[in-house]
Amino acid sequence: MPHLEIADLSASYEKGVDVLSGIDLQVERGEILSLIGPSGSGKSTLLRVIVGLLPPDSGRMVVDGTPVNFHDKRSLRDLRGRCAIVFQQYNLFQNMNVMRNVTIAPTKIKKRAAASVRAEAEALLEKVGLGDKHDAYPDELSGGQQQRVAIARALALKPEILLLDEVTSALDPELVNEVLDAVRVLAGEGMTMVVVSHEMGFVREVSTRVAMMDEGRIVETGTPEEIFDRPSAGRTRDFVAKILRG
Ligand SMILES: Nc1ncnc2c1ncn2[C@@H]1O[C@H](COP(=O)(O)OP(=O)(O)O)[C@@H](O)[C@H]1O
Ligand SMILES: [Mg+2]
Repeated sequence: MPHLEIADLSASYEKGVDVLSGIDLQVERGEILSLIGPSGSGKSTLLRVIVGLLPPDSGRMVVDGTPVNFHDKRSLRDLRGRCAIVFQQYNLFQNMNVMRNVTIAPTKIKKRAAASVRAEAEALLEKVGLGDKHDAYPDELSGGQQQRVAIARALALKPEILLLDEVTSALDPELVNEVLDAVRVLAGEGMTMVVVSHEMGFVREVSTRVAMMDEGRIVETGTPEEIFDRPSAGRTRDFVAKILRG
C-alpha cells in the first residue's frame, strides 16, 4: 500500500482557475519523491494540499490507506499530525532559544511531558548537527543553522511524511550543504519525503523518483536517471537542459 496516494486531484486559489489539475501520485513508504519544474508550475501548491493547508476541489488523497476528508476537522487533524512541512523561510520564534523552538509545539500543542520531549529534541538537534546550540537564539545563528533548527522543529512532531519546499533557496551558497547533509541523514533513515529543490545534484542523489511538473500537471515521473538522462517529455528535456546549463 502506498504511504501517500493522490488520484485525479485538482486545486485552485480562485474558483475556476485550476492551479493543479489531474494530479496522480503515489509515494511508497520510505520513498523520496522530488518535484521539479519551472517556477509557477504548482510544486508548492501540491505540497500545501498534501499537508492540508489547501483543500483540493476534486480528486482523492489517501494516506496510509485512509482517505483524507479535507472538510472534516478530525480527518484534517489526523493528516496534519502525519505530515510536516519546512519552508524556504524558516520562521523560527525569534524570542525563544533553539531548544524552546523545537520543544514548544510538542509540549504546548500536543501536551506531551517536558522531559521526554526535551530528550527527543536533544537527539534531533544532535542529528542535524546542532548539539551545541541549545541555548542560542535564532539571531545568533547562520541561515543554514536556523534552517536546521526548523527541520528539527518539524521532526519533533514525529511526522511520518516530511515535505521540504526549497529549504536551501534562501541560503548563501556555502550554507546549502550543511542543510542538505541533514536531509541526507533523514533520507538514510527511511523517512518518507516529498522534496522541492533546485539543487539538482542533490535531487539526483537522494530521490527514489522524480516528478516533473508544468502548468499544474505532472508531465512525467521516473527514476532520477530516467528524468535527467533520458526524459521522455519535451518539456522535461527543455527544463533539465536549462537547469543543468545553470
Ligand atoms: N496564495 C496564492 N493565491 C493565488 N494564486 C497563487 C497563490 N500561490 C500560488 N499561486 C499561483 O499558483 C500557481 C502555482 O504556484 P506555486 O504552487 O507557488 O508554484 P511553484 O511552487 O512551482 O513555483 C502560480 O500561477 C501562482 O501564481
Ligand atoms: Mg514554490
